[in-house]
Amino acid sequence: MQELLDAPLAPLTTFRLGGPATRLVTATTDDEVIAAVREADAADVPLLIISGGSNLVIGDKGFDGTALRIATTGFELGSATQRAEGRTHLELAAGENWSDAVARTVEAGLAGVECLAGIPGSAGATPIQNVGAYGQEVASTVTEVIAYDRRVGETVTIPGADCGFSYRHSRFKADPTRFVVLRVRFVLEDAGGLSSPVKYAELARTLGVTPGDRVPAAAARDAVLRLRAGKGMVLDPEDHDTWSAGSFFTNPILNAAEHEAFLARVADRLGADVTPPAYPAGDGLTKTSAAWLIDKAGFTKGYGTGPARISTKHTLALTNRGTATTEDLLALAREVRDGVHEAFGVTLVNEPVTVGVSL
Ligand code: EPU
Repeated sequence: MQELLDAPLAPLTTFRLGGPATRLVTATTDDEVIAAVREADAADVPLLIISGGSNLVIGDKGFDGTALRIATTGFELGSATQRAEGRTHLELAAGENWSDAVARTVEAGLAGVECLAGIPGSAGATPIQNVGAYGQEVASTVTEVIAYDRRVGETVTIPGADCGFSYRHSRFKADPTRFVVLRVRFVLEDAGGLSSPVKYAELARTLGVTPGDRVPAAAARDAVLRLRAGKGMVLDPEDHDTWSAGSFFTNPILNAAEHEAFLARVADRLGADVTPPAYPAGDGLTKTSAAWLIDKAGFTKGYGTGPARISTKHTLALTNRGTATTEDLLALAREVRDGVHEAFGVTLVNEPVTVGVSL
């Protein structure tokens, strides 16, 4: 276990923002992770779990406690017998790079996570906010999460059905100090090298197929990577458009009355012929697009003059142009949130986790 005092955290985040941690511990095995968590809990020291750092906004003052970096490794595919039955299991250590793991499943000819290519961060983070993109979310493939339960002081195995998954949410996000994810188990499909049926309209268009069709899994992955890169959503150290946490806000989900009030505001402001994006979200709920709201409230691509600006490729990504502080980023986020609320009466909620600060 490696240990550093007064350790900079900014380099461990995709925003490259935030002050130092009093202590930074790097754990490379599950036992080291558990030992570090137990030690912090026994001493009543605040604990911050960091892995890919792709969904974290750390305050400029940093973190007064132990930051635990999960650097565990492990990629294990199920047996040939499972594969002959058309499915196979995959177990990933929490510290595995997610996008690399996706690439390996596609190389192995398996389907189920190919549309989640290019998402920054680690495997252990995927069940926490039920990572999703281009018509797939991990809720559909996670069979079990192995986690250290800080409340009972033991390692537990939680079936996928008990993870409380919904849009960008789970029981882990609802109760963020209870579980430390150690390993995630998935079930993948062997469709003879083909992808899962393509669901997302934009992806189907890019691939020249009809939603519901299958394509070679590698073709689906490549198309997703191209789409993501076009939106600045694939990390590139040279490109400030990618110094972000991906989408900064979740897409708002409105009930029938809220949706009606929203449509009235849109008609008022933009004209009766303007139709905002709307996707059914179950139980009479409608999901609309945060990117669209931001754009139409006047915060267009590239908005801002300071060191924190909206990405030039996608309005939902707030970016550090290289010299920003967390306060700069938060000021921009508040301006966008308040401007959208004033224009359309809808309150945007941040997707990344904030540490020592809030919006
Ligand atoms: N739009 C704009 N301006 C823009 C970009 C988009 O008005 O600059 C509007 C368009 O109407 C577009 C709509 O927003 O049709 C939706 O845009 P997009 O297809 O890019 O999807 P999104 O809703 O912005 C979500 C996820 C992404 C995921 C994509 C693809 C959330 C919060 N974001 O973005 O996830 O990659 O769909 O599935 O659900 C992330 O969570 O960090 C993330 C990148």
